Amino acid sequence: MKYIEIGKDRIKAPAIALGCMRISSMDNSQVEELLMTALEQGVNFFDHADIYGKGKSEELFGEFMANHKNLREKMIIQTKCAIRPGYYDFSKEHIIKSVETSLKRMNLDYIDVLLLHRPDALMEPEEVGEVFEKLFTGGKVRNFGVSNHNMMQIELLKRGVSFPLIINQLQLSLVNAGMITSGINVNMENKESVMHDGFLMEYSRLNNMTVQAWSPFRYGKGGVFLDNPDYPELNAELDRLAEKYGVKNTAVAAAWILRHPAKTQVIAGTTNKERLCDICKAADFELTREEWYSLYRSAGHHLP
Ligand SMILES: NC(=O)c1ccc[n+]([C@@H]2O[C@H](COP(=O)([O-])OP(=O)(O)OC[C@H]3O[C@@H](n4cnc5c(N)ncnc54)[C@H](OP(=O)(O)O)[C@@H]3O)[C@@H](O)[C@H]2O)c1
Repeated sequence: MKYIEIGKDRIKAPAIALGCMRISSMDNSQVEELLMTALEQGVNFFDHADIYGKGKSEELFGEFMANHKNLREKMIIQTKCAIRPGYYDFSKEHIIKSVETSLKRMNLDYIDVLLLHRPDALMEPEEVGEVFEKLFTGGKVRNFGVSNHNMMQIELLKRGVSFPLIINQLQLSLVNAGMITSGINVNMENKESVMHDGFLMEYSRLNNMTVQAWSPFRYGKGGVFLDNPDYPELNAELDRLAEKYGVKNTAVAAAWILRHPAKTQVIAGTTNKERLCDICKAADFELTREEWYSLYRSAGHHLP
């Protein structure tokens, strides 16, 4: 496994993390096998949210933690809060309650990283700053970050939050690459030049924030693009490079994300331990610049 630095010297993390959103559909023994496989592969970073499986994902994870207390110090556990049914909530009361519930469900004394899951239009930066301070000094949360935020929302949060915001978790894959595409089409009149996300990749690099890529193998909210006949050119190129590097196409798709220098980390959401091992091979090789662009073009993106 290749390790990356998250925040300035704050966390040494594997380039590939395990997303635990889908474990809610598994039973205890399957979760045990998946988590043990992850740890054997050097994947000791786990991503959760209070809402995954309506709390079931954290609960199942908590049962694993209860049986493996000795592993806690070796693991980096991240969760998210602030999505509620029908709205987003950065209020002090909700954040505290959510963290306390997550700690209880996961059988933990502290969370390594807490992310604000989606921006709350009604957020008050000072209120968020106050609650982060309370969680940090109370020993409940060690680091903070955001998810699905643009750069001005992060700047606004920083007005009230004194802790470094070390992560922005965003949807990023070969197919969902809008944050990269707008930067490639600067000052053009095509639709690719439209900047939906406000220089997020550049901003993250300038501000020492790690971009965590969610849904790294999926398109939009739909299915997986790998081996999907709707993406013939992309799959041909993925297969060619998979053969060259002696890995599965999944590893090439993950390696494309890791090749971006915004300290990117892949959050793999597989529930299949063999697949997880295939994905981990992405950390063992690096795509050339030509290969990176060739995959990008074969995914249907154009260069100006
Ligand atoms: N911050 C946010 O707003 C946000 C949103 C969504 C997700 N997330 C996080 O990101 C993580 C990953 O999201 P995701 O699960 O949508 O991402 P993903 O890793 O792109 O997708 C995984 C899903 O694709 C399936 N799959 C089928 N063929 C595959 C192949 N060849 N390679 C890989 N997967 C294949 C997997 O099935 P198998 O299980 O059978 O392998 C699994 O159901 C989540 O667990 C969560 O932690 C965050």
